Amino acid sequence: MTYKSIKGTRDILPSESWKWQRVEEKIRGVMHTFNFREIRTPLFEETSLFSRSIGELTDIVSKEMYTFRDLSGESLTLRPEMTASVVRAHIQHNLREQSPLVKLYYIGPMFRQERPQAGRLRQFHQFGAEAIGSQIPSLDVEVVALAVATYEALGVKKTILRINSVGCEKCRPPYKEMLKRHLTRVRDRLSAESQRRLDVNPLRVLDSKSEEDQSAMAQIPLLKDHLCPECSAHYASVKEELAALELQYEEDGRLVRGLDYYTKTAFEILSKDLGAQDALAGGGRYDLLAEELGGKPTPGIGFAAGIERLMMVSEKQKSFLDGEEKPAIFFAALGNEAQRWAMKQALELRRRGISAELDFLSRSLKAQMREADRQQVRHVIIVGENEVKTRRATIKDMKSGEQKTVSFDEVMSLFEKTNTDK
Ligand code: HAM
Repeated sequence: MTYKSIKGTRDILPSESWKWQRVEEKIRGVMHTFNFREIRTPLFEETSLFSRSIGELTDIVSKEMYTFRDLSGESLTLRPEMTASVVRAHIQHNLREQSPLVKLYYIGPMFRQERPQAGRLRQFHQFGAEAIGSQIPSLDVEVVALAVATYEALGVKKTILRINSVGCEKCRPPYKEMLKRHLTRVRDRLSAESQRRLDVNPLRVLDSKSEEDQSAMAQIPLLKDHLCPECSAHYASVKEELAALELQYEEDGRLVRGLDYYTKTAFEILSKDLGAQDALAGGGRYDLLAEELGGKPTPGIGFAAGIERLMMVSEKQKSFLDGEEKPAIFFAALGNEAQRWAMKQALELRRRGISAELDFLSRSLKAQMREADRQQVRHVIIVGENEVKTRRATIKDMKSGEQKTVSFDEVMSLFEKTNTDK
């Protein structure tokens, strides 16, 4: 029997991992320009942290969490998202004492037991940001601008920003009742999934993509037209400020998110270059979450973005800017003495921060040259039996084909130079 990675999980092999590294570097760079600082939290938490924040009745909590008991019998869950953990850490470490507004970002794996398909995995990766401590609308715009700026920096084109307001504890419950009444009237025309949702969480029916649901809901009232004055004013300011920054957005009155902690602003960034799972990123405000988790009332807003989906779009749009880093130097050495010399030089180069590679398969010089070529190394240093005798090495520039022979003693000084010339 051979082992395979678990369904819905993937290995990221070296042919791909360099792209992940580039993407992560870019993300960190943009986060720092917006003055967000990194937070790393554990991969698992107490189960109730997630059920209380994301909501018992959501798909995530009701059927997608990886929950297990540890030896003490405590129920633990692999994090399906980061917002709950970040707010937990904010409360636990009293971060508001250090600064009334805390701007945090993260990159890492999340776990949801969903049906795997293109762009939907069971272990996937998100980058995201949370700004905790202010309820002013310009913070919403700061976070949206950050999300948009990240895609811009990554060279992702044609993203669509959709926004909505999901109201608050004052205006949402009466709207939910009204929505339920309207949906009950057209119940027979709704898809089976939406009929089920109607009983559990009527708001989620709104963002159904099925055509029968869309046509059944053509006349359904939208929450944005039934917001309380405070939510309405907040929403208006967010839209005004987005426009002032020339950030293009579409209003989507049916945008509701799959997590219950949201209040006021909700947004998503989509790409038509993704398949059915077209959401690159999603986020919104969660002004009641800290309190719900036992902290002092602390408003916040954030977003998270799927890295696998970002990779899919980048692949499709061919937007990777930089190539994979290749070794700068390959030592093609023949015989023990040459190999020993090459090992020593390679080590010295590496100490100076220059990447060097050699052969560990006792291949012929010709085969080693082929390997250097395959690895797209810029310079090969050839030390055959003759070279060892004369204590000279041949250096070949694989790009120009130029070759020269230098004494062993000169090799190091040459490469310092080559490296700075690059
Ligand atoms: P979410 O909409 O559940 O929000 O996830 C954000 C993004 O993660 C999605 O738009 C998608 O790109 C990616 N994603 C989600 N599930 C999967 C999956 N199974 N496979 C691949 N990618 C996936 C949240 O997680 C919130 N914590 C966002 C947030 C932060 N709200 C406020 N702050």
